[in-house]
Amino acid sequence: MLVDFSARLTHWQRTHGRNHLPWIGKSAYEVWLSEVMLQQTQVATVLPYYARFLARFPTVQTLAAAPIDEVTALWAGLGYYSRARNLHHAAQAVVAQFSGVFPSDTAQLQTLKGIGPSTAAAVSSLAYQQRAAIMDGNVKRVIARHAGIVGWPGDAAVLKKLYVAAEQRLSQEASPSEAHRRHTQGLMDLGATVCHTKTPQCAACPVVADCAAFAAQSTSRMPASRPKKVVPQHLRHALVLHTSNAVWLERRPATGLWSGLLSLPEAVNEAALQTLVTGLVTGLGTQTPWQPWVVHRLKHTFTHYQLHWTVWGVAVEEAFSLPAPWQRVAFADLSHVGVPSAVRKVLG
Ligand code: ADE
Repeated sequence: MLVDFSARLTHWQRTHGRNHLPWIGKSAYEVWLSEVMLQQTQVATVLPYYARFLARFPTVQTLAAAPIDEVTALWAGLGYYSRARNLHHAAQAVVAQFSGVFPSDTAQLQTLKGIGPSTAAAVSSLAYQQRAAIMDGNVKRVIARHAGIVGWPGDAAVLKKLYVAAEQRLSQEASPSEAHRRHTQGLMDLGATVCHTKTPQCAACPVVADCAAFAAQSTSRMPASRPKKVVPQHLRHALVLHTSNAVWLERRPATGLWSGLLSLPEAVNEAALQTLVTGLVTGLGTQTPWQPWVVHRLKHTFTHYQLHWTVWGVAVEEAFSLPAPWQRVAFADLSHVGVPSAVRKVLG
């Protein structure tokens, strides 16, 4: 079945593909320009920019000779401006190194700035009708589903499998052949108009007969999305030892989280918190309440972990005192001392 994947795809592309797009069947320069514009931008947005750009720079020579500011001016609004700078640089390289003719070979194309493996394969197949496998976002989806490749395409091993499967599905026609151009365009068109991410129109697909994802009713699971990072969860108990108008804070060590800031004393579990409280308030006689109570629960997200704080309150009398390095800070002065934002959230 795989042997006629390309025949079914190209046959479909002839009648159902987006054959009206202005870069279809054009020169390598025009195909390259469209591919670079389409790298991060939708077709509908690209169309007017593409027309304006070509009107001003109809050939690679005119683009190469232009001041860079004129190139970026025509790019304004498309975003990812490094594309415009790379485009200009690549145009000059084509003129200087390839006598103004884009190479058809994917390896040579990739020596030009802004042309990666997929764009090189697109230019080679679309403009020069060479046998080359593209691999943009839409195509990864089509191939992953048809070949039943599970896993996230951002993973090098998964990407490798996608390339192998994409190569197996290319036409066996000798290059140059219109089949290669239609195959590439067909994959893009299928991905954009039929093999949708959310609701693929499998009834309209020319290669559904041997689609692994369709057979396993697994289109929604292919390709897999980026795995969620497992963020370590740190559970800590914090103490608000306070009078009616002030709180006792502790200076954090010089290294690590919140280094050098004044913060609430912490314990790793409730038992340790009890020990901490008992140790601090020893000798205060009959003062009540002794029992801390939960005043706050809070989650704070850091780059590499999440901190869950259970905050306990203990009220002490004005006369209560602790030796250095403990520090008594009036609630009114909290905004003037360096305390972590999590502490501010609790006491604010
Ligand atoms: N996206 C990238 N290349 C494309 C092409 N040739 N046609 C339509 N959309 C595309």
